[in-house]
Amino acid sequence: MARLLIIGSLEAELGQAARIAMARGARLDSAEGVTAGLARLRAEGADLILCDVLFDIGWLLQAMVAERIHCPLVACGRTSDAEAAVRAIRAGARDFLPLPAEPDLIAAMLEAASAEPDAPVHRDAAMVQLMERATTLARADASLLITGESGTGKEVLARHIHASSRRFRGAFVALNCAALPETLLESELFGHEKGAFSGAVAMRRGKFEQAEGGTLLLDEIGEMDPRLQAKILRAIQEREIDRLGGAGPVRIDVRILAATNRDLAREVAAGRFREDLYFRLNVVSLRIPPLRERSGDILPLAEHFSERYARANGAPRRDFTPDAHALLLAHDWPGNVRELENAIHRAVLLAEGDVIGADAIELSARAPRLDAATPQVVVPPRPMQKPVTALVGRRMEDVERELIIETLSHCLGNRTRAAELLGISIRTLRNKLQEYRSHGVAVPPAPGTVMPEHLPAG
Ligand SMILES: Nc1ncnc2c1ncn2[C@@H]1O[C@H](COP(=O)(O)OP(=O)(O)O)[C@@H](O)[C@H]1O
Ligand SMILES: [Mg+2]
Repeated sequence: MARLLIIGSLEAELGQAARIAMARGARLDSAEGVTAGLARLRAEGADLILCDVLFDIGWLLQAMVAERIHCPLVACGRTSDAEAAVRAIRAGARDFLPLPAEPDLIAAMLEAASAEPDAPVHRDAAMVQLMERATTLARADASLLITGESGTGKEVLARHIHASSRRFRGAFVALNCAALPETLLESELFGHEKGAFSGAVAMRRGKFEQAEGGTLLLDEIGEMDPRLQAKILRAIQEREIDRLGGAGPVRIDVRILAATNRDLAREVAAGRFREDLYFRLNVVSLRIPPLRERSGDILPLAEHFSERYARANGAPRRDFTPDAHALLLAHDWPGNVRELENAIHRAVLLAEGDVIGADAIELSARAPRLDAATPQVVVPPRPMQKPVTALVGRRMEDVERELIIETLSHCLGNRTRAAELLGISIRTLRNKLQEYRSHGVAVPPAPGTVMPEHLPAG
């Protein structure tokens, strides 16, 4: 459960944010100002701080660094406080939350704060050794290449390396190089200036810049085309990048991790991967064994996932029966940890009674073993998450206003129709709309109303 510290007055919009957070299960603590907030942090700690942008956030963050208190801070304020927002971000705030707060945004922030990346589960001797190596290498700043079949946990390991490095306070940014066509990938990576190409309506910072001070994971780098490979090499060697359409290079301080499920040496031999980039990345590499080669991890991972998904479903954690264990150990997991995770997730939802038996565990038919060069294994999609009600924690009048405006625009402004749908009198509807207008809320016009922009020119 996330512990949230709110710094500021709970009377106004921050109070609304607090109600949303509590409705999402957060534990709430509050302080009237940054000095009091620091005292609460010393006393209680927190997973997330929401701080009114009017306070001296720079001072608080410096004090936290000095006292080695690690906690993300999100500045909040009215969107019109643009300058204050910029100051807060410069001072090191993780993000800026415009008030009044959007419930989904708060939920996402809480989730991100409490779901600190799972430390990789590792019990098998092969993984214990690999994790030790990874933790040692994390302290250096060199690029690393992580290899392994799809679903073995390359991204999990990359996050662990970031979290164990001296860059842990900076961002961890991951980009799947296989997911985007070349030109899009290029602007995702390097960013672009306004007007650099048609559709570039505003300047945008790329992933390299977003990862400033932190770590950038180039996932599936084996799929990247050679022209971009050359640009990546330059970024690593020169520590600078060029935005598309940019006037000059931008210095970057980013650690590059790369991951692939391909055999890059073979790709080099086949002329599909640049040899110089390969050598640059492969100074040290970490190979994650497929799950079938580290059977000592199967049950600890199953335990980990059953606990996690039980918690996510608000159910108590249950033990596996011995025949469930036997089944899990006998399978050869072509989809690796990802496949195991999906199987356990399903089992948690399917199992009846107070244990998880073999009957709840559905496994794919034994697929032929796949070698490292085989592309993505197809695993069944995860079961749908329970829809979270977006209304809990919101104020009645806010919900009512949105419902009314939304209904009205669905009815193309027709007051009579909207009132019918809403089950209120047209008079009540008119009064509400009048009130909203007086508070500056845009109200859909009645049909036939001539809007200024529709008046004939001249
Ligand atoms: N050692 C591990 N401990 C806990 N979860 C893991 C571990 N390895 C993989 N996972 C989980 O398995 C899934 C696949 O991992 P991921 O890192 O995305 O694999 P890859 O990048 O190699 O395809 C993710 O949901 C991840 O959280
Ligand atoms: Mg991956």
